[in-house]
Amino acid sequence: MKVQRICVLGGTGFVGRHLVARLANRGYPVRVLTRYPHRHREIEVLPGAELIEADVQDPTVLQQHFSGCHAVINLIGILHEYSSSQSFRAVHTELPGKVAEACHAAGVKRLLHMSALHADAAKGPSQYLSSKGEGEQRVMRVPDLAVTIFKPSIIFGPDDNFFNQFANLLKFARVLPLACPNSRFAPVYVGDVAQAFETALDNDATIGQSYELCGPRIYTFKELVEDIARMLALKRRVVGLPDSLARLQGKILGMLPVKIFTTDNFLSLQVDSICSCNGLEALGIAPRSVESIMPMHFADQTQRRRYDSFRKTARRG
Ligand SMILES: NC(=O)c1ccc[n+]([C@@H]2O[C@H](COP(=O)([O-])OP(=O)(O)OC[C@H]3O[C@@H](n4cnc5c(N)ncnc54)[C@H](OP(=O)(O)O)[C@@H]3O)[C@@H](O)[C@H]2O)c1
Repeated sequence: MKVQRICVLGGTGFVGRHLVARLANRGYPVRVLTRYPHRHREIEVLPGAELIEADVQDPTVLQQHFSGCHAVINLIGILHEYSSSQSFRAVHTELPGKVAEACHAAGVKRLLHMSALHADAAKGPSQYLSSKGEGEQRVMRVPDLAVTIFKPSIIFGPDDNFFNQFANLLKFARVLPLACPNSRFAPVYVGDVAQAFETALDNDATIGQSYELCGPRIYTFKELVEDIARMLALKRRVVGLPDSLARLQGKILGMLPVKIFTTDNFLSLQVDSICSCNGLEALGIAPRSVESIMPMHFADQTQRRRYDSFRKTARRG
């Protein structure tokens, strides 16, 4: 094995948890940097994993923690802006530049960088996509650094944000008004994404490459949400909104303190999240489908809901 200690940024998130567990189980010593170590103590149970509190926006802190590592993986990303330190520019554009430069300064030769499908500095229709595109440019221009970039469609798994957020909405709303119902996605399984990163670590042919990552099937947004309702055994109506109302929905929901949909999300949905060339195939990974993973997860929830309702009824009796 050529690569040894690996430093992961964003290793506490949805993708990060899967990737860090995978790398630790394969015998890589993994160093995970986080703002909130007390929330992620379970990572320390993994063999060879260390969890370190760090201000990743500080270049000297990055350099210090990258020292002695053979590779760095940056998974940090946000879907919504909350403050100046949590802005698309700070997180998607400036941070990747700092990470790449800190790799150079610390003598780390290998960087795997997580971007997003259709991230494009010039043509990205939203701040999310244009800032991710600028981040790609920043990491590519640092000399003597072997970079590989990953650009996934929406990522799914039992502990994901997307499917579970819609599952929670569908439990309460009999009718769900949906923005951009005809936007298309090719959801990719989190385990396949983690495998793509691991494969790239040890494969020099991936250096300098950018990989789009997609699942095996394309769905419209409306089809996906209807499928989630079906998996939960719920009878629900999903009503597609015209763009004028979807924009308004983004504007209003974007003003709430906890954001679930914003104008920027609406703009991201203007481009279909589907691959022109699926990098999973190039990496020798057979993409797994939503149907092979998620029904089992939602069936467990449905079963639990039934037991809860039986328990309540039994108590009343
Ligand atoms: N999930 C998807 O469907 C999807 C699709 C396309 C691309 N991506 C990209 O894949 C990457 C991982 O996504 P995910 O779903 O795993 O995200 P996630 O669950 O939200 O995790 C985000 C991670 O980033 C860190 N983070 C967030 N804001 C930060 C900030 N301001 N400073 C420092 N660290 C910060 C968090 O670390 P701490 O809180 O521990 O510090 C956390 O570990 C992101 O770059 C995302 O844009 C995801």
